[in-house]
Amino acid sequence: MALFLDTGDINEIKKFINMGIIRGVTTNPTILFKSGVTGGMEGVKKTSIEIANLIAPNPLSVEITKNESPEEMVQEAIELSKWADNIVIKVPFHGPDGELENIQVIHELETKHNVRVNVTAMMSAQQCFLAAMAGATYVSLFCGRVNNMGYNSVEELKKLRKLLDEHKLNSKIICASTREVLNVVEWLGAGGHIVTVLPDLLNKMIVHPYTKETVQMFLDDAKKL
Ligand code: E4P
Repeated sequence: MALFLDTGDINEIKKFINMGIIRGVTTNPTILFKSGVTGGMEGVKKTSIEIANLIAPNPLSVEITKNESPEEMVQEAIELSKWADNIVIKVPFHGPDGELENIQVIHELETKHNVRVNVTAMMSAQQCFLAAMAGATYVSLFCGRVNNMGYNSVEELKKLRKLLDEHKLNSKIICASTREVLNVVEWLGAGGHIVTVLPDLLNKMIVHPYTKETVQMFLDDAKKL
């Protein structure tokens, strides 16, 4: 699995899918807004279906847009999941006021409604462990935000992977909130199954100034042969 692309930009997705180096796409309302998606839920639906078709059978994460009653959240998640077979529903681990019903929603979607869930906005190994216990297919640790709060995301990842392995929990860890190129290899090395990467960071991972210089030398010398 290794790399997902964290964007709603169709052209960037096409570019990296054609290279064969991404295995999924993650979005959230903020990412879609920054990618220029408009038109309310119809706009979100159109873009999501386009991305889902483009990357199938790889997964596309689409986030629920409300945090009201558990019934409404389950209903919205089911609706979004019908857009395409490879859609995974992102559910925040708890609500903006610490509402706990989200965990029940996650459990119900996975166990009663056959909806794959990516539990999002988590900042600690302990939150991710509980989301895994609830049955989530993916648990997203916002590693960049963890670092920004002054904690060490690498240590959280190591603790989390150990817990999942020891307790035979099948959830896959998505390392999210990438901030630096270094994060990718560092977080995969610490136990993350997947890192979701911004297109700009992926470009920077590919191009190296010394590779440019070396290739130019080969091309120049080829002319002299
Ligand atoms: C991906 O699944 C997350 O929603 C995303 O990486 C969050 O990034 P941010 O912390 O930069 O908002």
